[in-house]
Amino acid sequence: MDMKTSINTVYLNGDYLPIEKASVSVMDRGFLFGDGVYEVIPVFGRNLLRINEHLQRLRNSLQLVSMPMPMSDLSWLAMFEVLLGKNPGEDRAIYLQITRGVYPKRDLTIKPEVAPTVFAMVLQTSPAPVEVLEKGLRTVTVDDFRWHACNIKSTSLIANVMLRQQASEADVIDAILVRDGNVTEGTASNVFIVKGGVIATPPKSQYLLPGITRDLALELAEKNSLPFEVKNISVQELESADEIWLTGSIREIAPVLELNGQTVADGKPGALWRTMIATYLRYKQELRNA
Ligand SMILES: Cc1ncc(COP(=O)(O)O)c(C=O)c1O
Repeated sequence: MDMKTSINTVYLNGDYLPIEKASVSVMDRGFLFGDGVYEVIPVFGRNLLRINEHLQRLRNSLQLVSMPMPMSDLSWLAMFEVLLGKNPGEDRAIYLQITRGVYPKRDLTIKPEVAPTVFAMVLQTSPAPVEVLEKGLRTVTVDDFRWHACNIKSTSLIANVMLRQQASEADVIDAILVRDGNVTEGTASNVFIVKGGVIATPPKSQYLLPGITRDLALELAEKNSLPFEVKNISVQELESADEIWLTGSIREIAPVLELNGQTVADGKPGALWRTMIATYLRYKQELRNA
């Protein structure tokens, strides 16, 4: 097998193609309007992380934007299996995106008879080792000016790009978003804090994406009898937290050690993060071996 060509095989509307051969029309509504939704599903070994939860979130996103699910769960799984087979690797992620398809003219109105564009590719991921994660993230808080539908995993990510740019301009790695005095999420992650030995994260709402890693972290906390609560977190609570973490499929669980130029607590990753990352890495290893 030619590894070079096989590693970049993508799925587009029923075909498996070398990435250079995969193209969509400039009239695709994903291109014109960002009219689409997506998912990123981590893969450890050959096993997909929380596939049912990812497919459920995809269904929710599609429903909220009035798009039908283009294929059955079994067909998704069969396609992922083929795509993973064509893109060998250890830790990977499936990126999949569905747009509202190609219309003959630029028109916002939805025409249900038009077929969606379905695209998927495999990302080769290299999660940071614990020694690197331990160095922590430097962040700033920024005003979350996004819309009231942040629970949709939409490909319209221009606001997230602008917010991440504010972090880059502040010379830090990421931004923690604050709406009306409360923390919502990161630009591509959910936010957790620890205060007085209790883990906390904001409740699900239209102001944040319901992260699969967020739910997994809460589940692992419960399994390990670590105290946690789901509650609004004010910016003052964030600033006085003993620990801050960002969670996401790609970032996994990462400690934040600087916020707005101040160190978080003593500037070292906290005890609860250490317990949590060890538990998460064990979970991942079990999935790899499954
Ligand atoms: C805005 C936003 N919030 C949260 C997350 C975390 O979600 P998950 O844990 O499912 O990756 C992401 C992931 O990309 C995101 O883009």
